[in-house]
Amino acid sequence: MNVPRFRRCVSLLGGLLPACLSLALIDGASGAEDQVFADFEGPTYGAWKATGDAFGAGPATGALPGQMPLSGFIGKGFVNSFHHGDAGTGTLTSPEFTITRGYVAFRIGGGGFEGKTCLNLLVEGKVVRSATGPNTTSGGSEALEPSGWDVRDLAGRKASLQVVDAATGGWGHVNLDQVVFTDRKPPGQPRTATREVVLHKHYLQLPVKTGAKQRRLALVVGGKVVRECDIELADGEVDWWAPMDVAPWKGSMATIRVEKLPEGSGVLARVEQGDSIRATEPLYRERLRPQFHFSPRRGWNNDPNGLVFSQGEYHLFYQNNPYGWNWGNMHWAHAVSLDLVHWRELPIAIYPREYGDSVFSGSAVVDRMNTSGWRAGGKDELLVAAFTSTGRGECIVYSNDRGRTWHEYEGNPVVRHQGRDPRLFWYEPGKHWVMALYDEAEGKQWITFHTSADLKHWEYGSRIEGFFECPDMFELAVDGNPAARKWVLTAASSEYRVGTFDGKTFTPETPKLPGHRGEAFYAAQTYSDMPDGRRVQVGWGQMASPGMPFNQMMCFPCELSLKSTPAGPRLSWHPASELCLLRREARHLSKVALSPGGPDPLAHEKAELLELRASIVPGEATTVGFTLRGTPVSYDVARQELTVGKRHAPVPLHEGRIELQILCDRTSLEVFADQGLVYMPSNVAEKGKAARYSTVVTGGTARLATLDLIPLKSIWGGKPLP
Ligand code: FRU
Repeated sequence: MNVPRFRRCVSLLGGLLPACLSLALIDGASGAEDQVFADFEGPTYGAWKATGDAFGAGPATGALPGQMPLSGFIGKGFVNSFHHGDAGTGTLTSPEFTITRGYVAFRIGGGGFEGKTCLNLLVEGKVVRSATGPNTTSGGSEALEPSGWDVRDLAGRKASLQVVDAATGGWGHVNLDQVVFTDRKPPGQPRTATREVVLHKHYLQLPVKTGAKQRRLALVVGGKVVRECDIELADGEVDWWAPMDVAPWKGSMATIRVEKLPEGSGVLARVEQGDSIRATEPLYRERLRPQFHFSPRRGWNNDPNGLVFSQGEYHLFYQNNPYGWNWGNMHWAHAVSLDLVHWRELPIAIYPREYGDSVFSGSAVVDRMNTSGWRAGGKDELLVAAFTSTGRGECIVYSNDRGRTWHEYEGNPVVRHQGRDPRLFWYEPGKHWVMALYDEAEGKQWITFHTSADLKHWEYGSRIEGFFECPDMFELAVDGNPAARKWVLTAASSEYRVGTFDGKTFTPETPKLPGHRGEAFYAAQTYSDMPDGRRVQVGWGQMASPGMPFNQMMCFPCELSLKSTPAGPRLSWHPASELCLLRREARHLSKVALSPGGPDPLAHEKAELLELRASIVPGEATTVGFTLRGTPVSYDVARQELTVGKRHAPVPLHEGRIELQILCDRTSLEVFADQGLVYMPSNVAEKGKAARYSTVVTGGTARLATLDLIPLKSIWGGKPLP
């Protein structure tokens, strides 16, 4: 078969189409029928001639190996120059034709490099029109988008089309489908569109459709780009409105600029201004809003950053995409708490310096002795933070106003290396600062230690192999004995090693040990400068909130301790004692017999937010435990193993019983067992459904020596929903 087929839509389908549809294919003004020049539906390119190795033997029918999923093509086949990945190059040239319609319409995707990943219209061997795909930077989308040219001035000329792939780097390919000669104007190439506004409110409200194509948006004030992001702007239905804080420029003229916006897009006109977060459901009370865990009011969060206690406030900075539901546009957002459980969100603390530069993870400390000399002299403590400025290196910023505004150290970056995630701490015996870093030198994964007297000048100390991302390091008293202190080195996975540290070198005394045993905890960090010597850790809770204007959360703060076990000292996790601030009146049961099919003490429990503490004597049972919001928390007696969701962990019976403490929120379960030696944070299976709890016992009778059911209060004020 000769492919692609050159055919006339209407003549081919005419007899089959209802009159209204065939009419719709004809432009009212000129009356000429659309002519499908190429639809790439056959196994070869037919009369089109390929050169090079990028185009393969014929049209593709989907993504090629290593390519992201493709969409936006018509039918099954389309041109895809991703053969041999982005490295492949070549051309694909059509047979000659005569221009008889006013427009050439097509769908194009892939790289956005002029002259290199493009479709050209050639007349007498010269390029008279050219179009590219939309992508030039990493991320982006493989969707083919409708586009076309006005060729009315070329009527009657002989021409050909040429697809060119001359690019070999990222997005070094181009995709094409459905070339149609038409008298109806197709959408032009997407272009930069702007809108002038006088900023008169706190926020610009940007309409977001999660999953829509990402566009680059900038806010320009006085000729300078002051905000910039990649954002899934909603052209049609809006999922949620992302607030862009423009308070610093209130009263100024500004230009909102969006790159590569399809012609006719109404999206810029939809941007609004407002003094509060635009919401369809009350803020912090949304259906899947965690009720006693921190989550950002809008956008995505991942790692906690800069956890530091100062002047009565617990600071929680965190990795935040203010403009999207998914990871991206990394900023340090900021929340504070007076009690570790109730949080107040403050304006974003650290913005990227320029487009493409992200503010990645890091830490903060109080520079009590003013070693850096940056203390302003007021009553406020000097806070110093370190973060990874991608593309630059490890950077230092400081604040003399309780973390509200930050100043860059002019000597940034202070450390350059192949890595990220600086963790600062003070080493008292040596009276110096330490920066623990994740380092990828020599293609391996290290934690590197640097030291400094003044937080500005850093010197390499040592490195240790075997941890990935987000190091943390601290000293703990084994069993609370101040004479028996050990250092713990941990990183994003929460695995850890126990050992000694001399201010420069960590000497491990254990192999790498497992950290948390759940499925939804990562990149945790502990608080600096705690007034009471506690080591409190907050982890990124990887609990998704589908359909919400926010995503992910922070796990409940945990107090860490080192407990001695026959195998040596081990980390243990307990919910921070401030949990008591959330407790309502408990229901206490004791000596409850559990038998398969028997009465269930949880049957009538309706509390939406619940702490459950159980001392379980498995007795004759084979398995015993609970189903909480559809998620199994189940103990296998023979294996002495606890299952939470899909994760398992060994939990030995102590005197014939196990003790569990479980925190249930709308999207999460945090299970503590074996005196905190086993910590299992998990998503709940039934999100957005009314809370349901039950006990589960199989194989024989078990007993709940005690069961405490403690309804918890929402941290967001008011009562939890019924
Ligand atoms: C861990 C991490 C860090 C990085 C940050 C970026 O989740 O990948 O290593 O700094 O997230 O958001």
